[in-house]
Amino acid sequence: MSISAFIFDLDGVIVDTAKYHYLAWRKLANELGFEFTKEQNELFKGVSRKRCLEILLDIGGITATQDQFDKWMVEKNEDYLEYIEKMDESEILPDVPKVLDFLKERNIPIALGSASKNARPILEKVHLLSYFDAIVDGNDVTKAKPDPEVFLIAARKLKTAPEKCLVFEDAVAGIQAANNAKMLSVGIGHPDILSEAQYNFKDFTEMSIKFLTGLISK
Ligand code: G6P
Ligand code: MG
Repeated sequence: MSISAFIFDLDGVIVDTAKYHYLAWRKLANELGFEFTKEQNELFKGVSRKRCLEILLDIGGITATQDQFDKWMVEKNEDYLEYIEKMDESEILPDVPKVLDFLKERNIPIALGSASKNARPILEKVHLLSYFDAIVDGNDVTKAKPDPEVFLIAARKLKTAPEKCLVFEDAVAGIQAANNAKMLSVGIGHPDILSEAQYNFKDFTEMSIKFLTGLISK
């Protein structure tokens, strides 16, 4: 079956925002009196803000009241927003524009499928918003990846059957969500970590245009 629509995750696929999420979560952890490492931050990729805070508090052995929990969610996001405020095109990951241009030139529908509630402002900051025919983000879903909801909504918005969609993802939960949606899953990152993906590339510089044309014209 040939591919006729493409869905991109945001964080870790289009831009490297994991480092900003990390700095904001680490600041909160330090304020609460414990360390938060880059290795622990790996667990947060593709995971909703709420779930991240639950994991962070588990790491610190902290039990929070609902009020404290809500306050820390806001605090982390305010710190994160300060970092993304300064983002520009230089933060787009290598060869992302090449892939987007290739698809755009052929009028192939493109969607974003992200857990982030900050997806739109980030795409605006890096001037990529206009490439996307549909945006599905953390504001639109009730079920987190690995549930396929985010990608199924994206396919619906692109008026394309799930089996004809391809998903680019850097998170294990995201690859599982794509597989659960019966879409073609392409891992962007370490193949050992993303072993459940149907195809794997370290980054877009490793993925040839020939690979894309092969999938589209099959
Ligand atoms: C992405 C990132 C996660 C982040 C989530 C929510 O999936 O990989 O690390 O927690 O988005 O982001 P938000 O911007 O809504 O806090
Ligand atoms: Mg991601």
